[in-house]
Amino acid sequence: MAHGRFITFEGGEGAGKSTQVERLGERLRADGHDVLITREPGGAPGALEIRRLLVEGAVERWEPVSELLLHNAARHEHVCKTIAPALAAGVWVVCDRFADSTVAYQGYGQGVARDTVARINALGANGVSPDLTIILDLAVADGLARAGGRADVEDRYERMGADFHERIRAAFLDIARAEPDRCAVIAAAGDADQIAAQVWDTVRTRLSI
Ligand code: TMP
Repeated sequence: MAHGRFITFEGGEGAGKSTQVERLGERLRADGHDVLITREPGGAPGALEIRRLLVEGAVERWEPVSELLLHNAARHEHVCKTIAPALAAGVWVVCDRFADSTVAYQGYGQGVARDTVARINALGANGVSPDLTIILDLAVADGLARAGGRADVEDRYERMGADFHERIRAAFLDIARAEPDRCAVIAAAGDADQIAAQVWDTVRTRLSI
């Protein structure tokens, strides 16, 4: 059986990733693919428990390197128990955030050294890397306004301040510049239908389907 493809979505807070992940999943299913939609931190029972430690509570509750390790502990559970078996079974996996989020948030955002992030991310991802990464790019103020409108206890990162979130946005654009074959940047300010059409166009072109 053919190996599945692995597509990740990245972006700052409130960029509309979860909507676009769902929309792409529906489109791929309509095209006849088996699809798994998942997200990080999460996607496996242990990873979901770790998620709560990271997305709730006081901003200062962790040392940045502890946070890097926790995200990658969750990622390792997710990859080994969910993503890799799905890909091996021919399933297309669409994931809301992956290792680029750690480069952006723990690296650029929280100041963990780039080579440390790369080393721990490699352990966490266990050799799995995206075939395609869609980066949804949105002005920080717009994203925070959208995200802040949700009644949500999972707002620990949202509370980290505008400068932090400007570094996250810059990080994703740097990642896209460094790996243009893997990454595509899509402006996320517009209408969800138009963005979904652009995402689908990008997926079809980049993955030759
Ligand atoms: P979500 O809001 O997109 O569900 O993601 C949860 C939060 O976790 C989000 O604010 C970004 C943050 N995060 C990191 O800081 N590092 C990571 O590696 C991942 C996957 C998420």
